[in-house]
Amino acid sequence: MSQRDQLCQVRLEKLGAYPFERLKLLFSGHSPRSGLVPIDAGAGEPRLPLPSFVADTLSTHVSGFSKYPSTVGSIELRQAIADWLQRRYGLQHVDAATQVLAANGTREALFAVAHALINPEADKKPYVLMPNPMYQIYLGAALTAGGEAVFLPCTEASGFAPDLDAVPESVWANTALIYVCSPSNPTGWIADSDYFTHLLALADKYDFYIVSDECYSEIYWQDKPVGLLEVAALSGREGFSRCLVMNSLSKRSALPGMRSGLIAGDADLIARFTKLRSYTGPATPLPLQAVARAAWSDETHVQQHLKVYRNSLKAFFDIYGADGITIPPGSFFVWLPVEHDENFAVAAYEQQAVTVLPGSYLAAEDADGMNPGKGYIRAALVDGPECAAELAHRLRSVRI
Ligand SMILES: Cc1ncc(COP(=O)(O)O)c(C=O)c1O
Repeated sequence: MSQRDQLCQVRLEKLGAYPFERLKLLFSGHSPRSGLVPIDAGAGEPRLPLPSFVADTLSTHVSGFSKYPSTVGSIELRQAIADWLQRRYGLQHVDAATQVLAANGTREALFAVAHALINPEADKKPYVLMPNPMYQIYLGAALTAGGEAVFLPCTEASGFAPDLDAVPESVWANTALIYVCSPSNPTGWIADSDYFTHLLALADKYDFYIVSDECYSEIYWQDKPVGLLEVAALSGREGFSRCLVMNSLSKRSALPGMRSGLIAGDADLIARFTKLRSYTGPATPLPLQAVARAAWSDETHVQQHLKVYRNSLKAFFDIYGADGITIPPGSFFVWLPVEHDENFAVAAYEQQAVTVLPGSYLAAEDADGMNPGKGYIRAALVDGPECAAELAHRLRSVRI
């Protein structure tokens, strides 16, 4: 291996293998029990019927495939997004031209945003704070953008909230960016207004940016989750300063294959991000932008999906039982304590033909060597109530 190969490899090695790659490795040499229909509760992929408007809208706009789309998204799509944000969060005004961007799936936007907002040439590596366990993209983004990841443990003791008060002043002082995820993947925790208000005050005091990943905002069990922009506006903040939110049609509209989401907030940050994106060019094809517009403008399908998710959660816990378990207030995941997460995942696969993710794969070891995902598994309730009930039966039968 040449010196150059080695240098490149060292940089990428910091990333580690993605959780699904690790799962593949964990399952190699193991076979699911035959005679059972496999249940894949590993991936967070909604599996609901396509909303009725998708096919017609696509065929009406199919000629758009012959044109290059702009990276920022058509003004019609950005207006539909701005209108949705106003309706959903009671915002007075969101400016489609300067405060909204289309994303080609939020995953890429969550990754790229760190590259736009932090400066790796600073004297000291800027800190990028994130929940732990977390959606792994935050970690990849922090590391490749030249930041230093700082993990905020989300444990039963903290109610699965990333505890802001446990962060030392010396860390805040060097923080450039914090990722928040509400409702959270994988724990289902939801930030309330007080949480966001506290975070906004810290952002002002210590001069950092907040990226709020709200992809599961439309999947909740009681009250609609508040959003960062909503709390920013209610507290009288001008122009959502320091704030960006991301949301996705993958979860809201069960369209994960469409790769479409939104970025919204502070116009200065949007302008900076737009500049980076004009080079990386993650544009959404025009016919898909037309479908996205229709999706952000329709609530009927979202309410139908919500009903299915709620019935699935109920069906699951009716059978699995909820003793010693926090029923997640949001998202379609259940986060279940088990004795040994990797062993449990292998046993579930071998004995019950069920795929779940070991919680430790979704978290990072902190400086004390503690992994707060250890001892949990994540299962996605994405196939409807009947399957959720069957999943509960099978998980209860797993023996390790
Ligand atoms: C917390 C969270 N954020 C963002 C995403 C990315 O969604 P998409 O790229 O499909 O918009 C996911 C997908 O699983 C997620 O779980």
